[in-house]
Amino acid sequence: MLDKKVAELLNTQVNKEFYSAYLYLDFSNYYVEKGLDGFANWYKVQAQEERDHAMLFLQYLQNNGCSVTLDAIDKPDKVFEGYDGPLHAGYEHEQYVTALIHTIYDAAHEAKDYRTMQFLDWFVKEQGEEETNAENLIKKYELFGSDAKALYMLDNELAARVYSAPSLVL
Ligand code: FEO
Repeated sequence: MLDKKVAELLNTQVNKEFYSAYLYLDFSNYYVEKGLDGFANWYKVQAQEERDHAMLFLQYLQNNGCSVTLDAIDKPDKVFEGYDGPLHAGYEHEQYVTALIHTIYDAAHEAKDYRTMQFLDWFVKEQGEEETNAENLIKKYELFGSDAKALYMLDNELAARVYSAPSLVL
């Protein structure tokens, strides 16, 4: 069995990751409405990755004999002014998720729970990539977003993103 506090934080993270999936699906819907199908695709794939993250936390808990409680998922309620609104919100959200992962890591370290620390190592690395991806999207938009042709090409580039299953297998 896992340390009680560690298990609680891991269970909370299941909900946080499902919320992330919901949030990015909401971003995707926003871009569909705006006619930017590539941006919509990028966030739809991101939502699939977040669902995978949730399932990894859930599976890890179950693999360690813990019961899982599924709480209500908050409604995404962000309202955006411009095309780059979700990009900034996404970057902020990833920084928030990184902090959550680090908090669980701290608790696992405190409890000398080396198994959970090893499990979380994948997420620590993943968060580095997620933050970089989110920041790069902002940079690209700043470079190309104000020119219609360049925005069209950027949208096409983002349309090429395809889902792939996570490299972490439990
Ligand atoms: Fe599951 Fe984007 O962090």
